[in-house]
Order: sequence, then C-alpha cells, then structure tokens
Amino acid sequence: MATEIRLPESHPAPVEGVHAAMEALYNWNYDSEIDQLRTLYANALERQWIAMRDLDWEAPFDREAFSRSVSLGGFPIQQTRFWSSLPEQTRWEISRRSAAWLLSNFLHGEQGALMVASQLVAAVPHMDGKFYAATQTLDEARHVEVFAAYVRKIDDVQPISPGLKRLLDNVLATPSWLEKAVGMQVVTEGLALYSFRDMRNAAEEPLLRKLLTYVSRDEARHTGYGVKYLSHVVPTLTDAERAGLEDFAYEAARLLIDSRSGTALRDSVLGIWRSAGIDVADVLPKLIQERAGMRQELQRTGGRFGPVRGFVIPTLRSIGLFSERIQRHFEEIFTANFGPELGDLSQDAVDLPEDLEAWVNEGA
Ligand SMILES: [Fe+2]
Ligand SMILES: [Fe+2]
Repeated sequence: MATEIRLPESHPAPVEGVHAAMEALYNWNYDSEIDQLRTLYANALERQWIAMRDLDWEAPFDREAFSRSVSLGGFPIQQTRFWSSLPEQTRWEISRRSAAWLLSNFLHGEQGALMVASQLVAAVPHMDGKFYAATQTLDEARHVEVFAAYVRKIDDVQPISPGLKRLLDNVLATPSWLEKAVGMQVVTEGLALYSFRDMRNAAEEPLLRKLLTYVSRDEARHTGYGVKYLSHVVPTLTDAERAGLEDFAYEAARLLIDSRSGTALRDSVLGIWRSAGIDVADVLPKLIQERAGMRQELQRTGGRFGPVRGFVIPTLRSIGLFSERIQRHFEEIFTANFGPELGDLSQDAVDLPEDLEAWVNEGA
C-alpha cells in the first residue's frame, strides 16, 4: 500500500515564470585567469555569516526607534514639522507600512539576484568568475532569508513594483552574460548597495541596522565583482557590443528610477498615508514647501545625488560604459523626473570609494 504523502495546504506556493535561455560554458582551464576575481572569491569565503545565529531575532522590538528610522526615497520625513505633529501610533503605522513596501521590494530584488547569480555560474566564461558567482548565490539566499524574516516582523510582504519586475525579467531572460553582469552586478547591485547603506545610516532600530550592515558588506563584494569583471572585458569589445551593453545598462537604470520616483511609489505611499487617516490634499503642499527648504542642506551634503547619480552612473563611467550618447539619454530622464535644474550630468564630480567594504563599515 502506498504511503500517503501529505503536502502543505498551499502547495505549490504561487509561482510565476519567465523564460530564460542561455548558453552554459565549460572552461577546461582550472588555473586562475583573473586574479582579482579569485581574491574576491577567497574574501567571500572568509566573510560568510549565518542569519539565524548572528542576528538577534528575539530582541524586543522598539517601535519608536523604528519610526525614526524610515526615510522615503532619500527624503528625511522625520525631520519635518508635519511628522512631529503626528500621534505616536500614526507614526508607527505609516513607518511600518512604508517600510514594508520598500523592504518587500528589496526582498523581491534579492530573489532576482539569487537567480541571476546562479545563472552566472553557468554563463560566465572564466573559472574565477564561476567560483565567485557560486559564493554570491549563497549570499543572495541569505539576503532573501533575512529580508523575508524582517518584513514578517512589521507587516505582510507587499507585491513587487512593476518597474523592478520588468528589470528582473530582462536580466533573467537575456542570453548574454555581459548584459546579466551589467544589469544585475553594476546597476541593480550598485543601487542596492547605496540604498542599503543609506538606510543603515539612518536606522535606529538595532536589528535593522545590523542586518543592513551585514547585507551591505556582501553587496559591496557583489558590486566589486561586476566592476572588476567588466573593467577587464569591456576594453576587448567592439564598438557595437559596447553600445549594446550601454543601452542595456541604461534601460535597467531607467526602470529602477521609475520604480523609485514614479507613480508606483507615489501611489503606494500616499495610499498608506490616507489609510492612516491623513488628509493628503492638505499635507502635501506643506511638505513640498518644507522640502524646498531642506534641499539646500541636501545639496551641501551631496544627498541630492541619490543612488543612480551618486553611484551607478559614476560606476558605469569608470568601466567605460558611459558615452556622451548614453549621457544624453540619462539627462533626459533626470530632467523629466527631477526638473531641468537637475538635468545636467556633465558637471557631476563623484569620486567612487576605493574600498567598498571600508565605505560600508564607515559609521557602522
Ligand atoms: Fe543581495
Ligand atoms: Fe547582491
């Protein structure tokens, strides 16, 4: 008699497919070819951590500290008079639901990174690149694990924003390992690293702060991988190949800018405020006014640059994927999203940190 196997009630959990075809490459040379990638692999092995052991998931959760921790798209809403005027319970409701929206998108992005890293093991041509991508695959599984566990503490997991979904689909579906590398390792990882570090610097809730520090250290290596690998390969490409890669990077960045500053974010955030009982029509003009006053301070601290302009674009420039042609495309989206006074990229002088891990550790 066959033994009955009982499946969980929700089996299978909801899944969604994207067709991903690519060529898997054997490499019969087992000696190191790109030493910098081999070193990165060795570093990754040394720096593994265990989410359920190394973070204190049982510590009491400080709601007030958490409510002081959340900023929206780089806008420090906690420093406004509007925010101080809200009751404590409302601040907590808005904070936890806004953060759940943002952290859910981080979580979905981590799942995308997990799958792309595993694709890179097969798709990249160098053995050093395969070794490294294997460690990244494990890192990303851990990131999915920690973000899922943290979101669970504050709210339900929220659906992925459409721009991010399209970006992940594009990176998973392309057969080109170079496009996967630039779309995930440079653009998406760069944005994630910058945003996680920013959020960590503002976070007063201890678990979130520690979690983001640990995750950012991993992301620093992931970005380093993209930068080192592509810096090695881009000079060997034809002009047409380089232009194609620039276009792919541009499209990835455009989708991320859209999903952060476009209507998806605005509608979600305003919806959260409304359901917390706030009269948005009354509050928004006051906030916009206060924001104008804060802009000077943001400019002084370099905050106006944000992750794409302050990190992703300088990285693309440093690996030779930011021609004048592509700069003009970026200037168009910056003008459309942030106004003509912020549309000129030619005067930007952003120095990338030499040592990304040290940069993450600053202020940890
Ligand atoms: Fe990650
Ligand atoms: Fe990553």
